[in-house]
Amino acid sequence: MDLHNEAVKIREAAAKAIQACRTTEDIEAVRVKYVGRKGRLTQLLRKLGDVPAEQRKEAGRILNETKEELTSLLTSRRSEIEESVRQQVRASETIDVTLPGRKPRLGKLHPTLRVLDEIVNVFIGLGFAVVEGPEIETEYNNFDALNFPPWHPSRDDFDSFYVAEGYVLRTHTSPAQIRVMKSQDPPVRVIVPGRCYRRDTPDASHLMSFFQIEGLYVDHDVSLADLKGTLAIFAREVFGPQTKIRFRPHYFPFTEPSAELDISCLVCAGKGCRLCKHSGWLEVLGCGMVHPNVFKHVGYDHRAVTGFAFGLGVERIAMLKYGIADIRTLYENDVRVLNGL
Ligand code: DAH
Repeated sequence: MDLHNEAVKIREAAAKAIQACRTTEDIEAVRVKYVGRKGRLTQLLRKLGDVPAEQRKEAGRILNETKEELTSLLTSRRSEIEESVRQQVRASETIDVTLPGRKPRLGKLHPTLRVLDEIVNVFIGLGFAVVEGPEIETEYNNFDALNFPPWHPSRDDFDSFYVAEGYVLRTHTSPAQIRVMKSQDPPVRVIVPGRCYRRDTPDASHLMSFFQIEGLYVDHDVSLADLKGTLAIFAREVFGPQTKIRFRPHYFPFTEPSAELDISCLVCAGKGCRLCKHSGWLEVLGCGMVHPNVFKHVGYDHRAVTGFAFGLGVERIAMLKYGIADIRTLYENDVRVLNGL
């Protein structure tokens, strides 16, 4: 066997393989294959004994030189690879301090919640306490105790979501009146913001879920004038100081007398326009003097106390304030629209 020739072949093959290495694992594999304990060059060195004595020295020199050469090629390729890995790491970890900063995008409260907070704050300023009631209500609190007759259409399961026998997703915040009055003696002065549910098909003015704020004031000698004065302040705070109000007689089972509150039109100030359907007025909320039967249900003496109550739809007020024609706009959650409100 021509050791010299063999050594040249190994050297060439190994040098090629070393150049092709991309990782330190590749380097290790090439090292094992050629100069490891069972590597091709090592095996060749073991055969030195078979070489005739006069050629052995020369052959040994060639083999050892080849081994040294390969070892040094391996070492330098390994350093190259290690250096390029270090460079990659450095590049990926550098911070370019000259780049312009990224502005964090600020969140914003939803218009419904902004209006809700604003209204709640007006009543806090008038001395009302804020309480909440459950969204799953008893049929009794939602209807019976509020003096709804058994045949009243809003009890119908076409109109209300019944979740179990005797339980309903509250269709208004009024049942909180019952809870509050049952849990404390007069005087009572509370507002109750909260989510309500009705089996309505969504359209421009209806949703299956919406927010209301209930108000209740019970004491000795609370009068319709107190109600009107309170709502006048509410209207001027929320819609502007020039806002006029009027009561229109209405019917609710739990108030007597009952009324709807109108405000002067926000667009035409009463002259008549499309928004107010040329009436000059916009309907805002329902209200009235607490019905004696409601007092009876909660154990209050209806000869000793009187009270007023009101209930408003928060989305309706948000629509009036922000000039939104379709209530669904509020919950399509198009941030371009919501950010503009
Ligand atoms: N609960 C009524 C509704 O959802 C609103 C309402 C009207 C509440 C008159 C009241 C009230 O407290 O006195 O339509």
